[in-house]
Amino acid sequence: MPRGLFITFEGTDGSGKTTQIEMLLTRLRDAGLDPVRTAEPGGTVIGAQIRRILLDPANHALAPAAEMLLYFASRAQNVAELILPSLEAGRVVVCDRFTDSTVVYQGAGRSLGADTVRRLHEIACGSLQPDLTFYLDIDLETGLARARNRNPPEAKDRMEEQSLDFHTRVREAYLRIAAENEHRFRVIDARGDAGSVHAEIWRHTEAAIGSLLHA
Ligand code: TYD
Repeated sequence: MPRGLFITFEGTDGSGKTTQIEMLLTRLRDAGLDPVRTAEPGGTVIGAQIRRILLDPANHALAPAAEMLLYFASRAQNVAELILPSLEAGRVVVCDRFTDSTVVYQGAGRSLGADTVRRLHEIACGSLQPDLTFYLDIDLETGLARARNRNPPEAKDRMEEQSLDFHTRVREAYLRIAAENEHRFRVIDARGDAGSVHAEIWRHTEAAIGSLLHA
């Protein structure tokens, strides 16, 4: 198994993921580490091309199975090209979304089923699992209000256009898989101010990272 630490961030629109990822990376650098930042879909040059297809609002006809396979195509590239080599080099990898996103958005949101997602995970990622997953939990109304303030309605991507019912299923599925994977999931109440949310994230990270910090 690789020597680094694999941290993933999960959450719905407006949960403050991007801000928290930035704050964690700064803190890790201040602690003398050299973390790797990546994101899904995307993270590599090939992944960025796949991301464009996935988020283009013109692609209304994208079939659910095609959508799921494209998310995994981007992930397989990210794992092979960036994530595994970085972990093997002993680095901390911080990834904005990973397979848990596919479990909730495609498995639950699109009703394709968690088992199908897990089978594809094995093909794309082998036995790789995050060491630590921060799920930034926010109720739909607060999340949507934050997202609306950030983006004008015409700037919505293909996933943000989904119905309220879809996003409700997504949040319920996040809470369910967090409960099923307590060993690595940390559910963070994302309604607090950025500073206190970060303090909680850092507390968990520091505990997990002990040996790397003192190496
Ligand atoms: P992105 O612009 O990265 O937004 P966010 O800030 O919400 O992470 O868009 C990624 C979108 O893709 C987001 O709506 C969630 C969705 N998604 C899936 O549906 N399945 C997946 O496996 C992943 C990684 C993302």
